[in-house]
Amino acid sequence: MSKRLSLVVAVTSDWGIGYKNGLPWPTLKQDLKFLRLKTTTTVDPKKQNAVVIGRNTWDSLPPKLHPLPNRFTVVLSRQPKEAFLGAHLVCKSLGEAVESLASPPLAEKIESIFILGGTSVYDEALKSPLCDKVYITHVEKQFPVDTYFPIQTFRDEGFKQISDESISSEPIEEDGIKYSFAVYKKQ
Ligand SMILES: NC(=O)c1ccc[n+]([C@@H]2O[C@H](COP(=O)([O-])OP(=O)(O)OC[C@H]3O[C@@H](n4cnc5c(N)ncnc54)[C@H](OP(=O)(O)O)[C@@H]3O)[C@@H](O)[C@H]2O)c1
Repeated sequence: MSKRLSLVVAVTSDWGIGYKNGLPWPTLKQDLKFLRLKTTTTVDPKKQNAVVIGRNTWDSLPPKLHPLPNRFTVVLSRQPKEAFLGAHLVCKSLGEAVESLASPPLAEKIESIFILGGTSVYDEALKSPLCDKVYITHVEKQFPVDTYFPIQTFRDEGFKQISDESISSEPIEEDGIKYSFAVYKKQ
């Protein structure tokens, strides 16, 4: 049976997500904690969640996050698998990744699938009928950016903000940077 996809992303006020293959902002501790908790928490303690990331995002992570701890880490790339030491699975398309995660033997071990970027991976996932929720951290500030969230696709696919009691909507401020969490669902 297919598994639903959720996206997790943090964006600047003009929908930027990256700069020079890193994040545009300095470390935002509460946001990293949110990402870690959202993507590691499972209902069934015997299962793990999977995260799917593009090759640039994988390259942007320090080696200690290869793989992301306590998450079954899937990298999307058309390059040979050997280039991704530490990844649990390397796939040549999002469809291949989703199919592998929803088929034996992985299907029994994986609870939820989280798409963690970058641009084209988000874009393809947003268009998927399996796409369920999008968790967006809105950073209320502009920073230099060179990589963007695919906002046109997000709008075209009809996502609307929903309330989610498990997520605080109270704004957070760290080092003078204000941000808040929001959840969206395809209507
Ligand atoms: N703010 C956030 O929440 C957030 C989240 C994630 C990333 N980021 C930032 O975004 C930037 C990286 O994102 P990006 O858009 O440049 O790159 P990316 O999506 O991480 O990686 C692009 C590469 O992934 C592979 N790929 C993508 N889609 C694929 C598909 N459907 N099938 C097979 N391979 C696929 C290709 O690799 P090959 O060329 O090897 O084939 C492609 O060149 C960094 O600055 C990072 O820090 C920010």
